[in-house]
Amino acid sequence: SVPVILDVDTGVDDALAIMFAVRHPGLDLLGISCVAGNAPLAQVVDNTLRVLDAVGAPDVPVAAGTARPLLEAPREARHVHGADGLGGIALPPTTRQPEPVAAVELLRRLILEHDRPVTLVALAPQTNLALLLRTYPEVAGNLERIVFMGGSASVGNATAVAEFNVWHDPEAAAIVLDSGVPAYMYGLDVFNRVAVDHETAVALEHGDDRLGRVVGALIGNRVALSEDERAEYTGLIGDAGAVCSIVDPLAIGTEVRPVRVELAGYGRGQTLVDRRDFAGEDMVHGLAGEWTQVEVALDVDAERLARLFLDTLGLSA
Ligand code: BDR
Ligand code: CA
Repeated sequence: SVPVILDVDTGVDDALAIMFAVRHPGLDLLGISCVAGNAPLAQVVDNTLRVLDAVGAPDVPVAAGTARPLLEAPREARHVHGADGLGGIALPPTTRQPEPVAAVELLRRLILEHDRPVTLVALAPQTNLALLLRTYPEVAGNLERIVFMGGSASVGNATAVAEFNVWHDPEAAAIVLDSGVPAYMYGLDVFNRVAVDHETAVALEHGDDRLGRVVGALIGNRVALSEDERAEYTGLIGDAGAVCSIVDPLAIGTEVRPVRVELAGYGRGQTLVDRRDFAGEDMVHGLAGEWTQVEVALDVDAERLARLFLDTLGLSA
């Protein structure tokens, strides 16, 4: 199985991703690091521990990371994830405790101690990962790749062009992209397509299965959105799709493309993806060498990934 570590800002769809990673036999979940993003850090940690209980996970080490982006003040996404970051689903309190060390320390230990290269899965702003790679650059030697949910090769969500995770800490994303660790970008181009249909979500939420009720409530829940937006968002499995892509890569169509994170002005937080046929030959600026070759997910068999998600949690109709 593939050794993975998740970096999360739980978060409705981070919760779904954690559940999938715990349950899929092809994944070996070594640990989870938490970062401020969808919700403040303390809440992210608490949500993450509660989600591990809800899915009956074994002892998975969880550590708190940074409470804010490298440069800017944190900006939460309560309008998307609800006041508690989990859409108000009220998971029971847990006796699980976070590790008594900072996320970078846990990450360093888990990565360097593992006997095989580890896949780091970033489902949140990449502040923890940037600090890790700057503090302990030697971890790169035992990283298979970084799979990140973030960015877009088309439109954004936090701004017209920027996706939330990259926009929340653009400098961190730039540091991670430039780190030399192979990167796989699961951006909005695919993120926005993988959904469980409305009837299935409702049936799960009101069904007999305990986990199914939590999953149904999570995927059906985009609390504070307007009716129009709710229609658009209902059913997305979101971050969970990025984890699904690790066990079923053939469900995704990718292209290796030069990518850069825009740091200035109105485009701040945008991932620039060079999709020209002659990509990399920048005639105006001659900057080709400064772009990072990234495997970018551009197409997805959405039904196949959604089915994989439900099957893995034992929730298929
Ligand atoms: C990303 O931001 C958060 O709202 C989600 O959890 C996901 O990681 C989507 O832009
Ligand atoms: Ca997230």
